[in-house]
Formats: sequence, C-alpha cells, structure tokens
Amino acid sequence: MVQGPQKNGSVGGGGQIVAGVLAPHPPHLVYAENPPQNEPRAECGWEVLRWGYERLRKSLARKDFDVLVVHSPHWRTMTGTHFLGVDYFKGLSVDPVFPNLFRFHYDLKVDVDLSRAIHDEAQVMGLDTQMMTNPDFRVDYGTIISCHLTHPEWNKPIVAISSQGLARYFSNDVMQAVMVKLGQATRKAIEQSGKKAVLLASNSLSHRHFVVEPELPEDMSYEHIQNHSQYLWDMKILDLMKRGKGREILDLLPDFTEQAVAETDGGSLTWLLSALGEPTHPAEVHAYGSVIGTGNAVVEWAGPGQEVLS
Ligand SMILES: [Fe+2]
Repeated sequence: MVQGPQKNGSVGGGGQIVAGVLAPHPPHLVYAENPPQNEPRAECGWEVLRWGYERLRKSLARKDFDVLVVHSPHWRTMTGTHFLGVDYFKGLSVDPVFPNLFRFHYDLKVDVDLSRAIHDEAQVMGLDTQMMTNPDFRVDYGTIISCHLTHPEWNKPIVAISSQGLARYFSNDVMQAVMVKLGQATRKAIEQSGKKAVLLASNSLSHRHFVVEPELPEDMSYEHIQNHSQYLWDMKILDLMKRGKGREILDLLPDFTEQAVAETDGGSLTWLLSALGEPTHPAEVHAYGSVIGTGNAVVEWAGPGQEVLS
C-alpha cells in the first residue's frame, strides 16, 4: 500500500479528508434502485453505474468518517457561494426534468458547525459567501442524489455547498479560479475542525443528452453515449484521473467543459481536485456509463495522507 501525499499546506488540527469522490447525480440511478423514499418504481437499469456506486460504498465502509461534504451544480446561487445553515431538513424533492423518475422524500441532518467553518474560511480568503438559514428551503436534487447513492443509510450529517454561474456569466477560467480557492478553504476548515470528511463532487462529465425519453425509461436498448467526441473527452479525463494527474486535469477542464458541454461548469470537480491538493496519486474509477447519453463516472481518490486503494 502507498500513501496519498501530504502537500499544498496541510494545517493540522486533527481533521482530514478521508476520500474525495466524483459522485454524479442522474435521478435514473435512484429510480432504478427503488429505495423506499422514492415514489416511482423501476424494473432495472443503468446497472454498471449502480454497481460502481456499490463498490464505492464498500470502499467507504472500510473508512471512518463523520460527515459528507457535497458541492452541487443544481444548487445554483446567483451571487456568491452559499452553505446550508439549518440543522435539519425534511421534504419532497422532485426532479424538474424527470418528475416521472424522482419524487424523493428526504430527511437529512446538516453539520452546521462545519458548514459555518468552511463559510468563514472562504470569507477570509476573499470569497463572497452566505449561510442559508431558511428552514423551509428545498434541498436540491443533485445534493440529495449524490448523498443517497454514496451513503443511503442517511445516518451521517452533510454539508451542502452551492455552485455559482460564473462559467456562464464570465468564463470557465473565472469560475475555476474561484472554485480552486473554495477547495482550499474547504480543506483548511476540515483539517482545523478535527472531523473526518468524505467530499462529493456531484456532477456528470460530458453532458450532451438525448431530448426524447423512451416509453420505458429503463429500456437499456436505448442507452448509449450521445456522440463519440464527448466519449473521447471523457476517456481523456478518466485516463488522467487514473494516472494521478490532478494538475493536468485542472489545466484541461476549461476546454473540456466547453467542448464536451460538461457538467463541470458548476465547478464541483474543480473544487474537489483543489481540496484534494491537486492529487498526484491514482484515482479508483469504480464505473463509467451513460445516462440519457451523458457521460458519468464514479471515481474515488484517497484523501491527502490517506491510504490509496489497491
Ligand atoms: Fe445534473
């Protein structure tokens, strides 16, 4: 076994990122799992990705962690980065595009202390931040789906972080510069907190998709990547992940985001790679597969100083 490197300014304090995960959120995966919280019922579907999440869950079951910290493209704040600031949320989350697949009754706890600590650290670093304190807030489906597929027991609190529209309002490069800082602030706050955290970047890779759904959504004879060029881009990014080229991925992400119409435009993957200290150790790709033509991968990195999976 080798160890993930300590680099990029570990601050001590006893806390640590035990793993970082690219944890995409197609509602189809929850639909196909048939958990009791989701109203629609499915026969099957998207098994390769769902089995990848199974492997992730087995891997995380061997690790000790206190909290899931998730960055979601579907909690999109107009200005600045927002953090959930209420202890407890309960409600019904309906996917606006696929209400036939995802009507999920959620019931979750928030680690408000850690949420506020990351908020404060980001503010010190000059980022525009805000705590979200509306108790009737509807938690976004990206956050819920990534957390559910990673840890369906829902017995650990979460920290949820919003994404911004910087890639659209300004450019991918501006978005990335801000998300790199947010990742650094996240890591510093976790290390000072004394807590063990699993980080989730809740996004697909390439995101061109079909616009017509088959009559039976889980009919896998209709499922494949939307086009070959986006597949090539996805394979390029995954190859870099497997070879521990965190810096190179960040360098390529603005072009990847634009050319593959990737869901990395919300900044989740940039935030994750930054929090992990631009990893130089190989990631474990648990699965890759398409959902309505989009490219999705379940990928796990050991946290800084953590054991790398064999
Ligand atoms: Fe999405």
